Amino acid sequence: MVLSVNIDHVATLRQARQDKEPDPVLAVTPVILGGADGITVHLREDRRHIHDRDILLLREIVTVPLNLEMSASEEMLGLALEFKPDMVTLVPEKRQELTTEGGLNVRQHRDRLAGAIRRLQEAGIPVSLFINPSLEDVDTSADMRCDMVEIHTGLYSNAKTPTESKGELRKVSDAVARAVSNGLIANAGHGLNYHNVVPIASIKPVSGLYIGHGIVSRALFTGLEEAVREMKKLIANAR
Ligand code: PXP
Repeated sequence: MVLSVNIDHVATLRQARQDKEPDPVLAVTPVILGGADGITVHLREDRRHIHDRDILLLREIVTVPLNLEMSASEEMLGLALEFKPDMVTLVPEKRQELTTEGGLNVRQHRDRLAGAIRRLQEAGIPVSLFINPSLEDVDTSADMRCDMVEIHTGLYSNAKTPTESKGELRKVSDAVARAVSNGLIANAGHGLNYHNVVPIASIKPVSGLYIGHGIVSRALFTGLEEAVREMKKLIANAR
């Protein structure tokens, strides 16, 4: 199973001082040494963490697939066509949110998303849609002919009781199964950490996990390389 490490929060720390360090571009060396199979960055419209310059440099130096998370705005589509990441994950974006709060509203924004998917795919960029664990949303995503879906694990991660957690895990697992039966690659992410990743990593048809905050938080105490290695180990043992 692929682990793509989201390095946005290295840039968040840099932006706390609006200066040069820590540089998210330099973070990729320990992240890759720790065993990451991919690097993810979210270019937000307000540029609150990752900047355009980061992506240009990452594109030059990263030796594993680079996943660009972005909204389906005209500005971002233009930049993606210029940056040519290895894949794009389309996500909803609200200015006030602390992090991506939910999956895309694929039914409401169907035409816009379908147009964005087509433009990216025509440029040779595979597209993933970040969606809630809903069977209907999986089917709508498949109808739009995206390549992958990333099932939002936020509700599972935030569950307060074992019963709630079990219920949310089941929804993720059902959505993954539905995606795969629709011919899509199924990934998962958001809010995953060392304590809650194993049940999600145990869902056999999941191809990849997208994890940021948990790994970067642990890295403050262990270093990035060790933090990624530990996560990889947990995931591998769960398979
Ligand atoms: N997947 C998507 C689509 C996201 O937007 C994020 C957060 O940027 C993540 C995964 C990673 O979430 P976390 O930082 O909670 O691990």
